[in-house]
Amino acid sequence: MLSAEPFIIALDGPAASGKGTLARKLAEHYNLELLDTGALYRAVGWQVLQSRGDPENEEDALNATNWLNDIDLSNPALRRESTGAAASKVAAIPAVRQALRDFQREFAANPPEGKNGTILDGRDIGTVICPGAPYKIFITADVETRAKRRFLEEFGEDGSDQEYEEILAELQARDERDMTRSNSPLKKADDALLIDTTNSSIEAVFEAAVTFISSKE
Ligand code: DC
Repeated sequence: MLSAEPFIIALDGPAASGKGTLARKLAEHYNLELLDTGALYRAVGWQVLQSRGDPENEEDALNATNWLNDIDLSNPALRRESTGAAASKVAAIPAVRQALRDFQREFAANPPEGKNGTILDGRDIGTVICPGAPYKIFITADVETRAKRRFLEEFGEDGSDQEYEEILAELQARDERDMTRSNSPLKKADDALLIDTTNSSIEAVFEAAVTFISSKE
């Protein structure tokens, strides 16, 4: 952390891979300001659904970006898998990505007073938003494991098999859309550390990330 370049961690990976948990732990450990960039796309998707628009329609989605500042990013409705699906649809529209790009770059480059730097988690942080970030991590897990995590988060122990199957199908559809869109697809940057969390504890994942960051300092 003595180097002159800004301390930025770019953390990417698919839905429910454990990005959010790792991002919060790293932000605390290194005293970094955190931006969950998925929440921005979720807020846009949610706003489109609220106004009964179509998340795949460019005009509806772009209109929703005007309301971004008014949306409570901690609204639990943003966390639903149905909102995630709408987020993934608006995120495939280049004009929406463009509308959110400058905000994310500004955030990355300007940590508030008292913070050592920033950490952003998303899909294209290491490849498009902050390609010059000194620390890049790509975190993943197999899709059944991710579906189970999301299912427990959303339904607790009371969920049915059918609800699990629905979440699994939605995650598979989201992976497909996020990885194959032509604009800024989900992709590991060449110089990112790859962490598979399928069989790893949060602590082990955190340790791997810290070891990687120390090796580059
Ligand atoms: O990380 P998340 O599940 O909250 O993201 C929701 C959706 O938003 C995701 O399926 C794709 C989109 N997204 C994106 O395209 N680029 C990002 N940097 C973050 C999220």
